[in-house]
Amino acid sequence: MRLKDKVIIVTGGGVGIGRAYATGLAKEGAKVVVADIQEEEARKAASEIKQGGGEALALPVDVTSAEKTQAMADKTLQKYGRIDVLVNNAGLYSAIKKKPFAEITAEEWDRVMAVNLKGLFLCVQAVYPAMKEQGKGKIINISSGTALGGTPFFLHYVTSKAGVIGFTRALARELGPDNICVNAITPGLTISGPQQEGVLTPEQLQDRRRRRAFQRDQYPQDLVGTMIFLCSADSDFITGQTINVDGGMHMY
Ligand SMILES: NC(=O)c1ccc[n+]([C@@H]2O[C@H](COP(=O)([O-])OP(=O)(O)OC[C@H]3O[C@@H](n4cnc5c(N)ncnc54)[C@H](O)[C@@H]3O)[C@@H](O)[C@H]2O)c1
Repeated sequence: MRLKDKVIIVTGGGVGIGRAYATGLAKEGAKVVVADIQEEEARKAASEIKQGGGEALALPVDVTSAEKTQAMADKTLQKYGRIDVLVNNAGLYSAIKKKPFAEITAEEWDRVMAVNLKGLFLCVQAVYPAMKEQGKGKIINISSGTALGGTPFFLHYVTSKAGVIGFTRALARELGPDNICVNAITPGLTISGPQQEGVLTPEQLQDRRRRRAFQRDQYPQDLVGTMIFLCSADSDFITGQTINVDGGMHMY
């Protein structure tokens, strides 16, 4: 087990890709805090982990609230006494409809930035004191391949996910002296749940398969190995990096 007794918070861990991260990290021995605005889903994910013999705690959180992200960190410390890793996975993705940029309202823009960028900032502020005191920590931010390819009709989302890469680089420099690794993952288009399957047409999925070196669909499980690596001691000298996991669609 590569993550034995590591305390890892996964935001947005109740459904989709976050749930696959939470389950995969628990199988490696981590004590996983499943933190999600969908409280019931977080509870289900945590109890599934426990039924499988792992350790998990479900917590409600809205990552746009400083008070709630602080409560998430405080409750994690009360229960487990430390915070080794923060996985900043919560995001507005499947809830957003693609539309021409001129039709995006200022409110929609602000909401996407609040969850996908400010949310990361508030979660990091909440866990940082514990990581600093421990003399070690890891922060893993979820960006998106859309920031590499410039997907159209998704301007607020793509802009937020490009911001995650800058956030990762600047924070890695700032937290290097504290021995805290800060990295990002850019997942390719991933079939993460039934809600998304309805959004993507068979033609869009076929087009995506054609553009990959591995010409098949991408699933949450395809991302879990990279996540385990970034949470483990094997990646202790890697920071400020963005690791692209998309079956060879983008190559930089
Ligand atoms: N599915 C993809 O193709 C894909 C590709 C690249 C990147 N991503 C990113 O990966 C992450 C997970 O993607 P997914 O497909 O599972 O998305 P999803 O939309 O299915 O899940 C997002 C999760 O975030 C949670 N969440 C939303 N707002 C929140 C808030 N204010 N506070 C706390 N939790 C909140 C949701 O409850 C949910 O658990 C997201 O950051 C997404 O942008 C997804």
